[in-house]
Amino acid sequence: MSTPSVYPPSEDFVRKAHVQGMKGYLDLYRRAEQDPETFWGEIAEREIHWFEKWSKVLEWNPPFARWFAGAKLNVSYNCLDRHLTTPRKNKVAILWEGEPGEQRALTYQELHRLVVRFASVLQSRGYKAGDRAIIYMPMIPELPIAMLACTRLGIIHSVVFGGFSAEALKARIQDLGATLVITADGGFRRGKEIKLKPAVDAALEECPGVRDAIVYRRTGSDTPMKQGRDLWWHELDEHATEDCPAVPLDSEHPLFVLYTSGTTGKPKGILHTTGGYLTHVTATMQWVFDLKEEDTYWCSADIGWVTGHSYIVYGPLAGGATSVMYEGAPDYPQFDRWWRIIEKYRISILYTSPTAIRALIRQGDQWPNAHDLSSLRLLGSVGEPINPAAWEWYNRVIGKGRCPIVDTWWQTETGGILIAPMPGAVPAKPGSGTLPMPGIIPDIVDLKGFEVGTDQEGFLILRRPWPGMIRGIWGDPERFREQYWTRVPGSYFTGDAARRDADGYFWVLGRVDDVMNVSGHRLSTMEVESALVRHPAVAEAAVVGKPHEITGQAVCCFVTLKKGDYSHEQLGKELRQWVAHEIGAFARPEEIRFTDALPKTRSGKIMRRLLREIVTNNSVTGDVTTLEDLSVVTKLAAQQDEE
Ligand code: PRX
Repeated sequence: MSTPSVYPPSEDFVRKAHVQGMKGYLDLYRRAEQDPETFWGEIAEREIHWFEKWSKVLEWNPPFARWFAGAKLNVSYNCLDRHLTTPRKNKVAILWEGEPGEQRALTYQELHRLVVRFASVLQSRGYKAGDRAIIYMPMIPELPIAMLACTRLGIIHSVVFGGFSAEALKARIQDLGATLVITADGGFRRGKEIKLKPAVDAALEECPGVRDAIVYRRTGSDTPMKQGRDLWWHELDEHATEDCPAVPLDSEHPLFVLYTSGTTGKPKGILHTTGGYLTHVTATMQWVFDLKEEDTYWCSADIGWVTGHSYIVYGPLAGGATSVMYEGAPDYPQFDRWWRIIEKYRISILYTSPTAIRALIRQGDQWPNAHDLSSLRLLGSVGEPINPAAWEWYNRVIGKGRCPIVDTWWQTETGGILIAPMPGAVPAKPGSGTLPMPGIIPDIVDLKGFEVGTDQEGFLILRRPWPGMIRGIWGDPERFREQYWTRVPGSYFTGDAARRDADGYFWVLGRVDDVMNVSGHRLSTMEVESALVRHPAVAEAAVVGKPHEITGQAVCCFVTLKKGDYSHEQLGKELRQWVAHEIGAFARPEEIRFTDALPKTRSGKIMRRLLREIVTNNSVTGDVTTLEDLSVVTKLAAQQDEE
């Protein structure tokens, strides 16, 4: 193993940072380790507004945690109302740019007004704490407005990424038992309108429990409305009031459910609650992003994923930041759109994904070089391991060697960042998330649950509960226990492989289960397989992630067909389109390979490991795109199985 480069922060950065030097980090870490309850209790008290205080910081009956139980608070109040009595009242909360070029700068006061108005609409239509709402919107300010309006009343929201299909949307509405859908006519991407309402119409045909579909007019295109169910946002707003106080909610009141891919064909609804989650995301905004009053902070994720929930909406707004939102594609109208945005708004913190970085590298340095990026002071990465070459480019071409890079490891389930360098304290090593946040005790273990040695690969687990942790899988407590808590009893199993180096730095290597990571988005092999076998021509399907230069992994499908006469070329196209239709365009397979048989164990389990090997290094045979090659693999698998 070659020794990786180490990048300490500059003296100037350290001097101004919230947490200064390794000593600063270690002091916090040790305090949290020795007495986590006092540690988190102090942070919660300092950073969050509570209507009523807790009696106990943590009740831990593995795997069920209750943080700040009995205390009362409201997320919308913490993100909005409490700033209105401070100089932040007229500070920009959300700085938005639409893809066609429009701009909106919503101050805390204005955002508060809009949220209160929308909350009053929801309240007048009878929605209350505990009800469930699905939000299916483009990246426009009304998306966080809808989220914050829900949290104001205690309505549990589930944001469904706009790239998901009607089928995926329907499954989520049904699983959550939602009675309300908030959507828009569409949004803009790469100069075209992406319609959303038709998917809602299709989904709602089989969701009789939904009473209202509230539609925001974004694009203005022709949008049929179903009488008695569909309501225009702007028409409802005419009857809105500006008197809709935030409801005090229990700290463990469900805040949101976010669906993510697991190892089965059925997505799981990850449940997050109120007080612990807000405390965690607020603390990490300071520790990891070193957030200062004067920062202009941009997280380029979509709010439909957890990164957008925690680090575009809740963390930044609770921390009183100016959070930038951009609606569209990075390459529209040209490859310099992002750099233009950074230059125009003098953005100081950029948080993005390795996939985005790699895609931008490919377009050449002339695009960023044509813009003044000197406002940047800190860069972040999330969603997948960042390869050192991409890290170095990000550092050199975007950060000009001046900006620390925070590589942040976390998951939908963890709620907020768990492993990342505090930028003024922990020297970075390209490709490593470095050291854990205070209160987080990660470990790396073998199959039997024993700790592995330095530089040994193993399973990444978390030994202690933390405030932002998953509280359950919506409607499925057994799956929650079984998936995360049985491998090493009492510890949380992340599903990631990792190793720890001699400096204690963590290197996350990727998933150990049947979950792919495509462009930093989680996708289960089984989900794609079940979509494929719903197609009338498909007999069986096996799906694996294939290494991809830009997106990290790409979806590769092995398919056997039912009897019939097919043109493989035609059917290949059709199946790719089919998966996009069943799940969403982002899940469209890169490759469909037709085969006579799939390699299986004697018990009939598909040996995805072999297929992964084929698509990764063609090591099982040479050229594997033909039928014969796969039948060779099948024989090989059978032989192994006989032994
Ligand atoms: O495999 C890890 C990878 O993404 C998974 C979590 O995916 P998701 O729940 O969609 O959340 C993504 C955004 C937080 C993890 O199990 N992952 C995420 N961040 C990193 C990472 N792998 C390596 N380094 C990271 N910084």
